[in-house]
Amino acid sequence: MPKPASHFVCQSCGTIHGKWAGRCDACGQWNCLVEEPLGHLDATKGAKRSKNPRVVEFVDLGGESEDLPRTTTGIGEFDRVTGGGLVPGSALLLGGDPGIGKSTLLLQVCSRIAQTGETVAYISGEESAGQVQRRARRLHMARSDVHLAAETSLGPILDSLVHVRPDVVVIDSIQTLWSDRLGAAPGTVAQVRACAQELTRFAKKYNSTVILVGHVTKDGQIAGPRVVEHMVDAVLYFEGEKSHQFRVLRAHKNRFGPTDEIGVFEMGETGLSEIANPSALFLDGRDNPASGAVVFAGLEGTRPMLTEIQALVAPSAFGTPRRAVVGWDNNRLAMVLAVLETRCGLSFAGRDVYLNVAGGLRICEPAADMAVAAAIASSCFDIALPSDTVVFGEISLSGDVRPVSRSDARLKEALKLGFTQAVAPKPHKNTSDMPADGIALITIRTLPELINRVETGQELHHGRESGRKAMRAA
Ligand code: TYD
Ligand code: MG
Repeated sequence: MPKPASHFVCQSCGTIHGKWAGRCDACGQWNCLVEEPLGHLDATKGAKRSKNPRVVEFVDLGGESEDLPRTTTGIGEFDRVTGGGLVPGSALLLGGDPGIGKSTLLLQVCSRIAQTGETVAYISGEESAGQVQRRARRLHMARSDVHLAAETSLGPILDSLVHVRPDVVVIDSIQTLWSDRLGAAPGTVAQVRACAQELTRFAKKYNSTVILVGHVTKDGQIAGPRVVEHMVDAVLYFEGEKSHQFRVLRAHKNRFGPTDEIGVFEMGETGLSEIANPSALFLDGRDNPASGAVVFAGLEGTRPMLTEIQALVAPSAFGTPRRAVVGWDNNRLAMVLAVLETRCGLSFAGRDVYLNVAGGLRICEPAADMAVAAAIASSCFDIALPSDTVVFGEISLSGDVRPVSRSDARLKEALKLGFTQAVAPKPHKNTSDMPADGIALITIRTLPELINRVETGQELHHGRESGRKAMRAA
Protein backbone atom coordinates (compact mmCIF):
# COMPACT_ATOMS: atom_id res chain seq x y z
CA MET A 1 0.00 0.00 0.00
CA PRO A 2 1.43 3.44 -0.83
CA LYS A 3 2.31 5.58 2.16
CA PRO A 4 0.09 8.62 2.69
CA ALA A 5 1.72 11.87 1.59
CA SER A 6 0.11 13.95 4.30
CA HIS A 7 -1.57 13.82 7.65
CA PHE A 8 -4.02 16.05 9.51
CA VAL A 9 -2.91 18.03 12.53
CA CYS A 10 -5.27 19.57 15.07
CA GLN A 11 -4.50 23.30 15.23
CA SER A 12 -5.72 23.41 18.78
CA CYS A 13 -3.94 20.56 20.56
CA GLY A 14 -1.44 19.28 17.98
CA THR A 15 -2.82 15.70 17.76
CA ILE A 16 -2.01 13.97 14.47
CA HIS A 17 -4.86 12.21 12.62
CA GLY A 18 -4.59 9.86 9.65
CA LYS A 19 -7.66 11.27 7.94
CA TRP A 20 -9.74 14.39 8.04
CA ALA A 21 -12.60 14.74 10.49
CA GLY A 22 -14.81 17.64 11.45
CA ARG A 23 -13.90 17.33 15.10
CA CYS A 24 -10.64 16.47 16.86
CA ASP A 25 -11.10 13.31 19.00
CA ALA A 26 -8.44 14.41 21.44
CA CYS A 27 -9.60 17.90 22.40
CA GLY A 28 -13.16 17.99 21.05
CA GLN A 29 -12.62 21.18 19.00
CA TRP A 30 -14.48 21.53 15.71
CA ASN A 31 -13.00 22.52 12.36
CA CYS A 32 -9.43 22.50 13.56
CA LEU A 33 -7.80 19.73 11.47
CA VAL A 34 -5.45 21.03 8.80
CA GLU A 35 -3.68 18.91 6.22
CA GLU A 36 0.08 19.02 6.45
CA PRO A 37 2.53 17.22 4.15
CA LEU A 38 4.59 14.44 5.68
CA GLY A 39 7.75 15.24 3.74
CA HIS A 40 9.53 17.13 6.48
CA LEU A 41 9.48 14.15 8.80
CA ASP A 42 11.83 12.25 6.49
CA ALA A 43 14.69 14.58 7.34
CA THR A 44 15.60 12.45 10.35
CA LYS A 45 15.34 9.16 8.50
CA GLY A 46 18.76 8.93 7.02
CA ALA A 47 20.62 10.20 10.07
CA LYS A 48 23.44 7.76 10.78
CA ARG A 49 25.06 7.10 14.12
CA SER A 50 28.54 8.53 14.20
CA LYS A 51 31.51 6.32 15.00
CA ASN A 52 32.46 8.42 18.04
CA PRO A 53 29.11 9.03 19.68
CA ARG A 54 28.87 12.11 21.86
CA VAL A 55 28.07 11.30 25.47
CA VAL A 56 26.04 13.45 27.80
CA GLU A 57 27.90 14.88 30.75
CA PHE A 58 26.18 14.60 34.13
CA VAL A 59 26.65 17.09 36.96
CA ASP A 60 25.15 17.14 40.45
CA LEU A 61 22.48 19.43 41.75
CA GLY A 62 24.74 21.19 44.20
CA GLY A 63 27.01 22.67 41.53
CA GLU A 64 28.21 26.25 41.49
CA SER A 65 25.08 28.36 41.14
CA GLU A 66 25.35 32.02 40.44
CA ASP A 67 22.58 34.56 40.33
CA LEU A 68 21.09 34.74 36.85
CA PRO A 69 22.48 37.61 34.86
CA ARG A 70 19.63 39.92 33.91
CA THR A 71 19.10 42.57 31.28
CA THR A 72 17.01 45.22 32.98
CA THR A 73 14.97 47.47 30.78
CA GLY A 74 14.54 50.35 33.18
CA ILE A 75 10.78 50.02 32.68
CA GLY A 76 9.99 49.06 36.27
CA GLU A 77 6.64 47.41 35.61
CA PHE A 78 8.10 45.24 32.82
CA ASP A 79 11.11 44.23 34.93
CA ARG A 80 8.85 43.32 37.83
CA VAL A 81 6.76 40.93 35.72
CA THR A 82 9.79 39.24 34.16
CA GLY A 83 11.17 38.66 37.65
CA GLY A 84 13.91 41.29 37.57
CA GLY A 85 14.76 41.65 33.89
CA LEU A 86 15.31 39.50 30.82
CA VAL A 87 17.53 36.44 31.18
CA PRO A 88 20.13 35.88 28.43
CA GLY A 89 19.66 32.54 26.66
CA SER A 90 15.94 32.41 27.31
CA ALA A 91 12.83 32.66 25.19
CA LEU A 92 9.74 34.60 26.18
CA LEU A 93 6.28 34.60 24.64
CA LEU A 94 4.12 37.71 24.84
CA GLY A 95 0.45 37.08 24.11
CA GLY A 96 -2.46 39.44 23.83
CA ASP A 97 -5.45 40.56 21.79
CA PRO A 98 -4.73 42.40 18.54
CA GLY A 99 -4.35 46.13 19.08
CA ILE A 100 -3.80 45.88 22.81
CA GLY A 101 -0.28 47.34 22.57
CA LYS A 102 2.17 44.43 22.30
CA SER A 103 4.19 45.99 19.50
CA THR A 104 4.23 49.35 21.25
CA LEU A 105 5.41 47.81 24.53
CA LEU A 106 8.16 45.82 22.88
CA LEU A 107 9.35 48.75 20.80
CA GLN A 108 9.66 50.77 24.00
CA VAL A 109 11.46 47.86 25.70
CA CYS A 110 13.86 47.56 22.73
CA SER A 111 14.62 51.25 22.77
CA ARG A 112 15.34 51.27 26.50
CA ILE A 113 17.62 48.23 26.26
CA ALA A 114 19.44 49.76 23.27
CA GLN A 115 20.13 52.84 25.39
CA THR A 116 22.11 50.67 27.83
CA GLY A 117 24.48 49.74 24.99
CA GLU A 118 23.19 46.23 24.27
CA THR A 119 22.50 45.10 20.71
CA VAL A 120 18.80 44.80 19.99
CA ALA A 121 17.01 43.48 16.90
CA TYR A 122 13.32 43.97 16.12
CA ILE A 123 11.94 41.75 13.35
CA SER A 124 8.50 42.80 12.23
CA GLY A 125 6.47 40.30 10.23
CA GLU A 126 3.24 42.26 10.36
CA GLU A 127 4.17 45.87 9.78
CA SER A 128 6.53 47.28 7.19
CA ALA A 129 9.77 48.91 8.33
CA GLY A 130 8.24 52.27 7.45
CA GLN A 131 5.27 51.68 9.73
CA VAL A 132 7.51 50.72 12.63
CA GLN A 133 9.72 53.76 11.96
CA ARG A 134 6.70 56.05 11.98
CA ARG A 135 5.58 54.59 15.27
CA ALA A 136 9.08 55.01 16.71
CA ARG A 137 9.04 58.67 15.66
CA ARG A 138 5.70 59.15 17.37
CA LEU A 139 7.10 57.57 20.55
CA HIS A 140 10.18 59.84 20.37
CA MET A 141 12.55 56.92 20.05
CA ALA A 142 13.58 57.20 16.41
CA ARG A 143 17.19 57.75 17.42
CA SER A 144 17.44 54.51 19.39
CA ASP A 145 20.03 52.09 18.10
CA VAL A 146 17.66 49.20 17.26
CA HIS A 147 18.31 46.86 14.32
CA LEU A 148 14.96 46.89 12.55
CA ALA A 149 13.88 44.51 9.77
CA ALA A 150 10.61 43.55 8.17
CA GLU A 151 10.85 39.88 7.22
CA THR A 152 8.85 36.68 7.59
CA SER A 153 11.15 33.98 6.25
CA LEU A 154 12.90 32.16 9.08
CA GLY A 155 16.04 31.17 7.17
CA PRO A 156 17.26 34.69 6.32
CA ILE A 157 16.20 35.93 9.76
CA LEU A 158 18.33 33.32 11.54
CA ASP A 159 21.29 33.96 9.21
CA SER A 160 21.23 37.67 9.93
CA LEU A 161 20.76 37.13 13.65
CA VAL A 162 23.82 34.89 13.72
CA HIS A 163 25.67 37.70 11.93
CA VAL A 164 24.45 40.57 14.17
CA ARG A 165 24.51 38.53 17.42
CA PRO A 166 21.92 40.67 19.24
CA ASP A 167 21.51 40.44 23.01
CA VAL A 168 17.76 40.79 22.64
CA VAL A 169 15.61 39.82 19.62
CA VAL A 170 11.92 40.60 19.22
CA ILE A 171 9.89 38.58 16.69
CA ASP A 172 6.57 40.29 15.98
CA SER A 173 4.78 37.88 15.52
CA ILE A 174 5.54 34.16 15.58
CA GLN A 175 2.39 33.42 13.52
CA THR A 176 3.72 35.36 10.53
CA LEU A 177 7.01 33.45 10.31
CA TRP A 178 7.50 30.55 7.96
CA SER A 179 10.27 28.11 7.31
CA ASP A 180 10.72 26.96 3.70
CA ARG A 181 11.77 23.55 4.97
CA LEU A 182 8.11 22.80 5.72
CA GLY A 183 5.32 22.64 3.18
CA ALA A 184 2.73 23.93 5.63
CA ALA A 185 1.30 27.45 5.42
CA PRO A 186 2.44 30.21 7.82
CA GLY A 187 0.44 30.29 11.04
CA THR A 188 -0.24 26.54 11.09
CA VAL A 189 0.80 24.40 14.02
CA ALA A 190 3.75 22.87 12.21
CA GLN A 191 5.14 26.24 11.14
CA VAL A 192 4.63 27.97 14.47
CA ARG A 193 6.16 25.02 16.31
CA ALA A 194 9.15 24.70 14.00
CA CYS A 195 9.89 28.45 13.98
CA ALA A 196 9.56 28.74 17.75
CA GLN A 197 11.86 25.76 18.17
CA GLU A 198 14.52 27.19 15.86
CA LEU A 199 14.38 30.55 17.61
CA THR A 200 14.61 29.08 21.13
CA ARG A 201 17.57 27.05 19.91
CA PHE A 202 19.17 30.26 18.66
CA ALA A 203 18.54 31.90 22.05
CA LYS A 204 20.26 29.07 23.95
CA LYS A 205 23.15 28.74 21.51
CA TYR A 206 24.04 32.43 21.25
CA ASN A 207 22.95 33.45 24.77
CA SER A 208 20.41 35.94 23.45
CA THR A 209 16.97 36.70 24.78
CA VAL A 210 14.30 35.96 22.19
CA ILE A 211 10.89 37.58 22.68
CA LEU A 212 8.11 36.09 20.56
CA VAL A 213 4.82 37.88 20.07
CA GLY A 214 1.83 35.52 19.89
CA HIS A 215 -1.73 36.21 18.85
CA VAL A 216 -4.53 35.28 21.11
CA THR A 217 -7.63 33.51 19.84
CA LYS A 218 -11.19 34.45 20.72
CA ASP A 219 -11.19 32.24 23.80
CA GLY A 220 -7.98 33.74 25.13
CA GLN A 221 -5.47 31.04 24.13
CA ILE A 222 -2.29 31.79 22.25
CA ALA A 223 -3.18 30.60 18.75
CA GLY A 224 -1.34 27.61 17.39
CA PRO A 225 -0.30 24.76 19.57
CA ARG A 226 0.01 25.01 23.30
CA VAL A 227 3.43 23.42 22.70
CA VAL A 228 4.88 26.89 22.10
CA GLU A 229 4.01 27.71 25.69
CA HIS A 230 5.94 24.64 26.80
CA MET A 231 8.93 25.49 24.65
CA VAL A 232 9.58 28.97 25.98
CA ASP A 233 10.85 29.91 29.43
CA ALA A 234 8.26 32.55 30.18
CA VAL A 235 4.77 33.37 28.94
CA LEU A 236 3.40 36.86 29.56
CA TYR A 237 -0.04 38.13 28.67
CA PHE A 238 -0.81 41.73 27.88
CA GLU A 239 -4.44 42.39 28.61
CA GLY A 240 -6.97 45.12 29.17
CA GLU A 241 -10.23 46.49 27.94
CA LYS A 242 -9.88 48.42 24.69
CA SER A 243 -12.30 51.00 26.06
CA HIS A 244 -9.99 51.75 29.00
CA GLN A 245 -6.49 53.07 28.68
CA PHE A 246 -5.09 50.73 31.37
CA ARG A 247 -3.14 47.69 30.30
CA VAL A 248 -2.01 44.89 32.56
CA LEU A 249 1.04 42.73 31.86
CA ARG A 250 0.64 39.41 33.64
CA ALA A 251 3.09 36.52 33.97
CA HIS A 252 1.41 33.23 33.12
CA LYS A 253 4.51 31.06 33.33
CA ASN A 254 8.02 32.08 34.32
CA ARG A 255 10.97 29.78 34.85
CA PHE A 256 13.02 32.63 36.31
CA GLY A 257 10.57 34.47 38.50
CA PRO A 258 7.16 34.59 40.14
CA THR A 259 4.04 34.03 38.05
CA ASP A 260 1.63 36.14 40.01
CA GLU A 261 3.16 39.56 39.41
CA ILE A 262 1.44 42.13 37.28
CA GLY A 263 2.64 45.35 35.70
CA VAL A 264 0.21 48.19 35.06
CA PHE A 265 0.55 50.58 32.12
CA GLU A 266 -1.48 53.35 30.64
CA MET A 267 -1.78 53.78 26.87
CA GLY A 268 -1.46 57.41 25.92
CA GLU A 269 -0.51 59.68 23.05
CA THR A 270 3.15 58.78 23.35
CA GLY A 271 2.85 55.08 23.99
CA LEU A 272 2.69 53.18 27.24
CA SER A 273 3.62 54.76 30.53
CA GLU A 274 4.07 52.97 33.83
CA ILE A 275 1.56 53.28 36.63
CA ALA A 276 3.47 53.04 39.86
CA ASN A 277 0.44 53.34 42.16
CA PRO A 278 -2.40 51.43 40.50
CA SER A 279 -4.74 51.52 43.52
CA ALA A 280 -5.09 55.28 43.30
CA LEU A 281 -5.82 54.95 39.60
CA PHE A 282 -8.42 52.18 39.90
CA LEU A 283 -10.24 54.07 42.64
CA ASP A 284 -10.12 57.36 40.79
CA GLY A 285 -13.50 59.00 40.31
CA ARG A 286 -15.18 57.56 43.40
CA ASP A 287 -17.17 60.26 45.09
CA ASN A 288 -20.38 59.62 47.00
CA PRO A 289 -20.86 56.05 48.15
CA ALA A 290 -23.45 54.27 46.04
CA SER A 291 -25.21 51.03 46.83
CA GLY A 292 -23.65 48.02 45.15
CA ALA A 293 -20.10 49.45 45.13
CA VAL A 294 -17.51 47.94 47.45
CA VAL A 295 -13.76 48.51 47.59
CA PHE A 296 -11.82 45.25 47.53
CA ALA A 297 -8.36 45.14 49.05
CA GLY A 298 -6.68 42.66 46.74
CA LEU A 299 -3.20 41.36 46.20
CA GLU A 300 -1.57 40.97 42.79
CA GLY A 301 1.63 39.02 43.29
CA THR A 302 3.46 40.83 46.03
CA ARG A 303 1.62 44.06 45.45
CA PRO A 304 -1.55 45.07 47.26
CA MET A 305 -4.08 46.72 44.99
CA LEU A 306 -7.43 48.29 45.77
CA THR A 307 -10.23 48.08 43.23
CA GLU A 308 -13.90 48.86 43.23
CA ILE A 309 -16.32 46.00 42.70
CA GLN A 310 -19.76 47.01 41.45
CA ALA A 311 -22.87 44.87 41.54
CA LEU A 312 -26.36 45.49 40.31
CA VAL A 313 -29.29 43.26 41.15
CA ALA A 314 -32.26 44.13 38.97
CA PRO A 315 -35.64 42.55 38.20
CA SER A 316 -35.37 40.33 35.16
CA ALA A 317 -37.48 40.72 32.07
CA PHE A 318 -36.68 37.17 30.96
CA GLY A 319 -37.61 33.71 32.15
CA THR A 320 -33.96 32.87 32.74
CA PRO A 321 -32.34 35.73 34.64
CA ARG A 322 -29.00 37.05 33.39
CA ARG A 323 -25.68 36.75 35.18
CA ALA A 324 -23.17 39.06 33.51
CA VAL A 325 -19.60 39.40 34.79
CA VAL A 326 -16.79 41.69 33.67
CA GLY A 327 -13.37 41.24 35.27
CA TRP A 328 -14.16 38.25 37.47
CA ASP A 329 -14.87 34.55 37.14
CA ASN A 330 -18.41 33.55 36.09
CA ASN A 331 -18.33 30.29 38.03
CA ARG A 332 -17.14 32.03 41.15
CA LEU A 333 -20.11 34.42 40.92
CA ALA A 334 -22.48 31.44 40.57
CA MET A 335 -20.94 29.97 43.72
CA VAL A 336 -21.27 33.17 45.73
CA LEU A 337 -24.90 33.54 44.61
CA ALA A 338 -25.63 29.94 45.62
CA VAL A 339 -24.10 30.47 49.06
CA LEU A 340 -26.03 33.73 49.48
CA GLU A 341 -29.26 31.94 48.58
CA THR A 342 -28.70 28.83 50.68
CA ARG A 343 -27.02 30.27 53.76
CA CYS A 344 -28.30 33.84 53.93
CA GLY A 345 -31.83 33.51 52.60
CA LEU A 346 -31.44 36.00 49.73
CA SER A 347 -33.27 35.06 46.57
CA PHE A 348 -32.03 35.75 43.04
CA ALA A 349 -34.79 33.91 41.18
CA GLY A 350 -36.23 36.31 38.63
CA ARG A 351 -33.45 38.85 39.23
CA ASP A 352 -30.56 39.71 36.92
CA VAL A 353 -27.14 40.03 38.55
CA TYR A 354 -24.45 42.20 36.93
CA LEU A 355 -20.94 42.34 38.32
CA ASN A 356 -18.19 44.67 37.16
CA VAL A 357 -14.64 45.30 38.29
CA ALA A 358 -14.08 49.02 37.76
CA GLY A 359 -11.23 50.25 35.59
CA GLY A 360 -11.00 47.18 33.36
CA LEU A 361 -8.92 45.09 35.75
CA ARG A 362 -9.36 41.33 35.94
CA ILE A 363 -9.31 39.81 39.43
CA CYS A 364 -8.40 36.16 39.94
CA GLU A 365 -8.16 35.96 43.72
CA PRO A 366 -10.72 34.01 45.80
CA ALA A 367 -10.21 36.74 48.41
CA ALA A 368 -12.60 38.87 46.36
CA ASP A 369 -15.54 36.58 47.34
CA MET A 370 -16.52 38.64 50.35
CA ALA A 371 -16.30 41.94 48.50
CA VAL A 372 -18.51 40.50 45.75
CA ALA A 373 -21.02 39.17 48.30
CA ALA A 374 -21.06 42.55 50.08
CA ALA A 375 -21.57 44.40 46.78
CA ILE A 376 -24.45 42.10 45.79
CA ALA A 377 -26.08 42.41 49.22
CA SER A 378 -25.60 46.18 49.18
CA SER A 379 -27.35 46.38 45.80
CA CYS A 380 -30.13 44.01 46.95
CA PHE A 381 -30.92 46.13 50.02
CA ASP A 382 -30.07 49.40 48.27
CA ILE A 383 -27.87 50.36 51.20
CA ALA A 384 -24.42 51.81 50.54
CA LEU A 385 -21.43 50.72 52.59
CA PRO A 386 -19.48 53.52 54.29
CA SER A 387 -17.09 54.98 51.75
CA ASP A 388 -14.06 54.52 54.03
CA THR A 389 -14.40 50.72 54.16
CA VAL A 390 -12.52 47.97 52.34
CA VAL A 391 -13.63 44.33 52.22
CA PHE A 392 -11.75 41.09 51.57
CA GLY A 393 -12.01 37.39 52.48
CA GLU A 394 -12.71 34.01 50.94
CA ILE A 395 -16.10 32.32 51.27
CA SER A 396 -16.49 28.57 51.65
CA LEU A 397 -19.53 26.64 50.51
CA SER A 398 -20.62 26.20 54.13
CA GLY A 399 -21.01 29.97 54.40
CA ASP A 400 -17.96 30.40 56.64
CA VAL A 401 -15.41 32.98 55.69
CA ARG A 402 -11.76 32.01 55.55
CA PRO A 403 -8.66 34.05 56.22
CA VAL A 404 -6.58 35.12 53.24
CA SER A 405 -2.86 35.68 52.93
CA ARG A 406 -1.04 38.92 53.67
CA SER A 407 -3.86 40.78 55.45
CA ASP A 408 -1.27 43.21 56.76
CA ALA A 409 -0.20 44.32 53.28
CA ARG A 410 -3.81 44.79 52.20
CA LEU A 411 -4.63 46.82 55.30
CA LYS A 412 -1.53 48.99 54.93
CA GLU A 413 -2.43 49.83 51.34
CA ALA A 414 -6.00 50.68 52.42
CA LEU A 415 -4.67 52.93 55.17
CA LYS A 416 -2.34 54.63 52.71
CA LEU A 417 -5.31 55.54 50.52
CA GLY A 418 -7.33 56.98 53.39
CA PHE A 419 -9.57 54.06 54.34
CA THR A 420 -10.27 53.73 58.03
CA GLN A 421 -11.99 50.38 58.42
CA ALA A 422 -11.77 46.93 56.93
CA VAL A 423 -14.31 44.12 56.94
CA ALA A 424 -12.39 40.86 56.80
CA PRO A 425 -11.99 37.41 58.34
CA LYS A 426 -9.90 37.09 61.48
CA PRO A 427 -6.29 37.11 60.27
CA HIS A 428 -3.97 34.14 60.73
CA LYS A 429 -2.38 34.27 64.13
CA ASN A 430 1.13 35.06 62.97
CA THR A 431 2.52 38.47 63.70
CA SER A 432 3.08 39.55 60.13
CA ASP A 433 -0.66 39.37 59.52
CA MET A 434 -1.60 41.80 62.28
CA PRO A 435 -3.38 44.90 61.01
CA ALA A 436 -1.75 48.27 60.69
CA ASP A 437 -2.40 50.88 63.33
CA GLY A 438 -4.98 53.43 62.30
CA ILE A 439 -7.31 51.07 60.48
CA ALA A 440 -10.10 49.36 62.39
CA LEU A 441 -10.69 45.72 61.57
CA ILE A 442 -14.22 44.36 61.73
CA THR A 443 -13.76 40.60 61.84
CA ILE A 444 -16.42 38.46 60.24
CA ARG A 445 -16.81 34.73 60.85
CA THR A 446 -19.68 33.78 58.60
CA LEU A 447 -21.35 35.13 55.49
CA PRO A 448 -24.75 35.65 57.20
CA GLU A 449 -22.93 37.90 59.70
CA LEU A 450 -21.57 40.01 56.83
CA ILE A 451 -24.97 40.25 55.11
CA ASN A 452 -26.56 41.22 58.40
CA ARG A 453 -24.06 44.03 58.84
CA VAL A 454 -24.63 45.29 55.31
CA GLU A 455 -28.41 45.11 55.74
CA THR A 456 -28.48 47.01 59.02
CA GLY A 457 -25.95 49.54 57.64
CA GLN A 458 -25.31 51.28 60.92
CA GLU A 459 -23.63 48.30 62.47
CA LEU A 460 -20.65 48.78 60.24
CA HIS A 461 -20.01 52.10 61.96
CA HIS A 462 -20.75 50.73 65.42
CA GLY A 463 -18.63 47.72 64.72
CA ARG A 464 -15.36 49.60 64.93
CA GLU A 465 -14.91 49.17 68.64
CA SER A 466 -15.84 45.52 68.66
CA GLY A 467 -13.58 44.96 65.67
CA ARG A 468 -10.63 46.35 67.55
CA LYS A 469 -11.50 44.26 70.59
CA ALA A 470 -11.69 41.17 68.47
CA MET A 471 -8.23 41.94 67.12
CA ARG A 472 -6.77 42.30 70.58
CA ALA A 473 -8.29 38.98 71.55
CA ALA A 474 -6.78 37.27 68.51
P1 TYD B 1 -0.11 47.90 18.93
O1 TYD B 1 1.14 47.99 19.73
O2 TYD B 1 0.03 47.98 17.46
O3 TYD B 1 -0.93 46.59 19.30
P2 TYD B 1 -0.60 45.06 19.00
O4 TYD B 1 0.80 44.96 18.55
O5 TYD B 1 -0.88 44.37 20.32
O6 TYD B 1 -1.57 44.62 17.96
O7 TYD B 1 -1.08 49.01 19.50
C1 TYD B 1 -2.02 49.55 18.70
C2 TYD B 1 -2.99 50.39 19.47
O8 TYD B 1 -2.40 51.24 20.41
C3 TYD B 1 -3.69 51.24 18.49
O9 TYD B 1 -5.08 51.03 18.62
C4 TYD B 1 -3.31 52.64 18.81
C5 TYD B 1 -2.81 52.58 20.20
N1 TYD B 1 -1.69 53.49 20.45
C6 TYD B 1 -1.87 54.63 21.22
O10 TYD B 1 -2.96 54.89 21.71
N2 TYD B 1 -0.80 55.45 21.47
C7 TYD B 1 0.42 55.21 20.95
O11 TYD B 1 1.36 55.99 21.19
C8 TYD B 1 0.60 54.06 20.13
C9 TYD B 1 1.93 53.73 19.51
C10 TYD B 1 -0.46 53.21 19.91
MG1 MG C 1 1.47 44.37 16.67
